[in-house]
Amino acid sequence: MSKPKVLVTRRVPQECLDILKPHFELEHFNKGVAIPRKQLLKSVKDKDGVLCLLTDKIDDELLAAAPKLKAVSTFSVGYDHIDLPACKARSVNVTNTPGVLTESTADFTWALLMAAGRRIVEGDAYMRGGKYKGWDPLMLLGTDIAGKTLGVIGFGRIGQAVAKRALGFSMRVLYYDTRRAPLEAETTLNAKFVPLDELLRESDFVSVHTVLDEGTRHLLDDRAFGLMKKSAYLINAARGPIVDEKALVRALKADKIRGAGLDVYEWEPKMAPGLASCKNAVLAPHLASATLETRIKMGQMAASGLVDGLVKKVRSPFTVD
Ligand code: GLV
Repeated sequence: MSKPKVLVTRRVPQECLDILKPHFELEHFNKGVAIPRKQLLKSVKDKDGVLCLLTDKIDDELLAAAPKLKAVSTFSVGYDHIDLPACKARSVNVTNTPGVLTESTADFTWALLMAAGRRIVEGDAYMRGGKYKGWDPLMLLGTDIAGKTLGVIGFGRIGQAVAKRALGFSMRVLYYDTRRAPLEAETTLNAKFVPLDELLRESDFVSVHTVLDEGTRHLLDDRAFGLMKKSAYLINAARGPIVDEKALVRALKADKIRGAGLDVYEWEPKMAPGLASCKNAVLAPHLASATLETRIKMGQMAASGLVDGLVKKVRSPFTVD
């Protein structure tokens, strides 16, 4: 019997291919850039499964071009690039990579928070630029982190892992979500459930960890930046469009807030005009889960999702509903 056909849309860790290869006839777009849309639509034509990335839109157009498609596995925890109702309507199973990137993403959120709060990137440029002339009590002053208030928007796996790290910094933790977390999580993490506006008014660091959907698009806008403290920082390692990036640039330039640490962008990979010149923003190219260990685990999980659906024909534990 012939093997199911699978398209892999980007270069991925070898460990991912090692799981796929024995089971599938693979077509691999083995490059470090997104597969062109036209090629994607052509390549899915005869495929039973697709291992995709968050840069590949899985929508009705793609599904219509892939009449045999039964499984889509995304090499990401986020699945806002996938039209779930459209997949459901065509009985295409969708899996993702939850859990394995929680700690690396929380670590990176803290790296952004600390880099922004303590001006590490500016300091690095200062050194390399030969500007350092000796210790100065007023040079590149940042802000204290220990003892401050952290506001976590979206208190799921990653938001809670970020809050857990704040315990070590003796911070007060506020959180906002559409649903209150179990009391046990609140108690363990010493986190208080508050309305969004209260979180924005009270926090020294606002960190975004919610999913992107129609309810969270532009959740952080001019109004939100107006509510935040002038001394506060915004950290976003979730999804770009949760933040109105043009409004953020206005807020950073007008000193409405003190700084930002960003890993994601509204029109990724592009940035809003003016953002690149904001020295009070630390900018990373979507690196939050980018550790060797995590990317291997994500690759293995993404591959397993396809094996579950197309070979074992069982409901994968990584199924997104
Ligand atoms: C990365 O952004 C992911 O969703 O895994």
